[in-house]
Amino acid sequence: MKLADSLDSIQQIVNEIKNNHQTIALVPTMGNLHQGHLALIDEATQQADTVIVSIFVNPLQFNNSDDLASYPRTLDDDMEKLRQKNVNAVFLPHEDMIYPDGMDNHTTIEVPVISDILCGQNRPGHFRGVATIVNKLFNLIRPDTAVFGRKDFQQLAIIRKMVEDLALNITIIGIPTVREQSGLAMSSRNIRLTHEEKSIAACMYKTMLETKQKIISGEKDFMALEKMAIAKLKALNFKPDYFEIREREKLKRATAEDKKLVIFSASYLGQPRLIDNISFDI
Ligand code: PAF
Repeated sequence: MKLADSLDSIQQIVNEIKNNHQTIALVPTMGNLHQGHLALIDEATQQADTVIVSIFVNPLQFNNSDDLASYPRTLDDDMEKLRQKNVNAVFLPHEDMIYPDGMDNHTTIEVPVISDILCGQNRPGHFRGVATIVNKLFNLIRPDTAVFGRKDFQQLAIIRKMVEDLALNITIIGIPTVREQSGLAMSSRNIRLTHEEKSIAACMYKTMLETKQKIISGEKDFMALEKMAIAKLKALNFKPDYFEIREREKLKRATAEDKKLVIFSASYLGQPRLIDNISFDI
């Protein structure tokens, strides 16, 4: 497994791969790798001749300095997992290589409208940071394919739109959310849940499943369903940011006519903020 810790070294590795006429699948991560990331790598391995994983805790996408400081960093463990997966190369840039003139002086990418709803509402600038780093990784690594998790459904939609709008020649693949036995979506942030919080964390997913069931049974008053779900989560000690039913194409608020739906939920539970979604057709 090759290691690249500079822009020159990753570009050299990419040039070698391209000179050998091999394809590249990129898995961008912020480290603290879990089963969900490993599923992305498995998919990447199916998609291309070579797999490159990036690990970079991107400060531009954090709007809260405590969240950035406490983001789990487990590089030694991560490297061992990547070795076991036979990943071809790992890109580990430092902040000053990515943002040499500082974050405030860096050109950014803004995907309008869908960046301002859901997680974008309570995390201003978050998706600008995501789109900017993903675009920069695409330019440095020139992948044929890039693989992301559907747990970050909104992020995936924003990346797909950026790729389409900027005519980037990259296939974007979204992989189903990997869950613990309880139903809790795997996330690097779960590590910050106490034992007790972990036992109630899966109730967010269960509440989404109950809401889905009510919709499938014919309930059309989506606002009432959202209010009911938020009240239930509050009673369980969650501090909900949002619980919203939206249509899947443009992520607009769902109406009774929509058939392809996504339920989105984000809630604090103790320290960490958990997000999840379920997508279904009626
Ligand atoms: O999903 C993540 O881990 C990050 O948002 C990403 C895509 C690696 C960009 O920093």
